[in-house]
Amino acid sequence: MAFVNLQNVAYKYPLTKTPILQNINLQVNEGEFVAIVGPNGAGKSTLCYALAGFVPHFFKGEISGSIEVAGIDSSKSTLDEWVPNVGLAFQNPFNQISGAKYTVFEEIAFGLENNGVPREEIRPRVEEAMKLTDISNLADRSPYSLSGGQQQRVALTSILVMRPKLLVLDEPTSQMDPIGTREVFGVVRRMAEDGMTVVMVEHKMEWIAEFADRVIALKDGQILLEGSPSEVLTSDLLAENGFGISRYTSTAREAKKRGLWNKSTLPVTLDEAVVGFGN
Ligand SMILES: Nc1ncnc2c1ncn2[C@@H]1O[C@H](COP(=O)(O)OP(=O)(O)OP(=O)(O)O)[C@@H](O)[C@H]1O
Ligand SMILES: [Mg+2]
Repeated sequence: MAFVNLQNVAYKYPLTKTPILQNINLQVNEGEFVAIVGPNGAGKSTLCYALAGFVPHFFKGEISGSIEVAGIDSSKSTLDEWVPNVGLAFQNPFNQISGAKYTVFEEIAFGLENNGVPREEIRPRVEEAMKLTDISNLADRSPYSLSGGQQQRVALTSILVMRPKLLVLDEPTSQMDPIGTREVFGVVRRMAEDGMTVVMVEHKMEWIAEFADRVIALKDGQILLEGSPSEVLTSDLLAENGFGISRYTSTAREAKKRGLWNKSTLPVTLDEAVVGFGN
């Protein structure tokens, strides 16, 4: 049985007329790293909320179908029962900051304190998590004094420190430079290797191709395509439906039309492009 199991999920926010999610069937295995891609307004964040239990428990609205994580059915549980299983890093890291704490260290410790984790366990866990995401040097800074990319690292760390079974990340590298982005993908990959299940909304196709196990392409609240990163990210359907495309894919697609790309599959990463053009 899949660790995450969405069956025929449809959802409408209280004030919207049309469904924002429709016919969503999604299974994710334990320890799998699944990336979600899609144009603006496709419903990616809404899907994250559904996985995190905020839809329907917090946002209300109309939901049908079933959402199960770790064998628990969302409609039959409260948000309190759901929270220990799933950690969500919001699209805007600013929304994640509690506003109650003066330092990054305290901010990251906040969730553990709320959960009544013993004092002597908190420090080592926070330090370990900060080391993982390489923010030990920010420990004494005010969460509000940070750059967007640093705030995203803090937001990710404050989720990781809780050790959720399902990690849901909504564009966690949107404000990061390439080095930060690579590090975050690396950390997330490692968490998945250690058994954490990961669902990550991202636009950075090259990194997805390198690190994710599977890709779901979402459009107008429905799953348009699903498969291996290479299969999905090089599909003509993505290009035709307003998805972001790796520059290497679009270049090779053009080259193919002119007879300059001879491989059967298109590249997503620079390495794949170099190999393909080299032959
Ligand atoms: N709280 C809300 N109430 C009503 N409609 C909403 C709400 N939040 C989002 N929507 C609508 O739901 C649709 C999907 O939004 P969502 O934020 O899930 O898309 P997204 O794929 O995450 O987009 P983006 O790439 O901009 O982050 C949009 O049309 C949006 O206007
Ligand atoms: Mg979004």
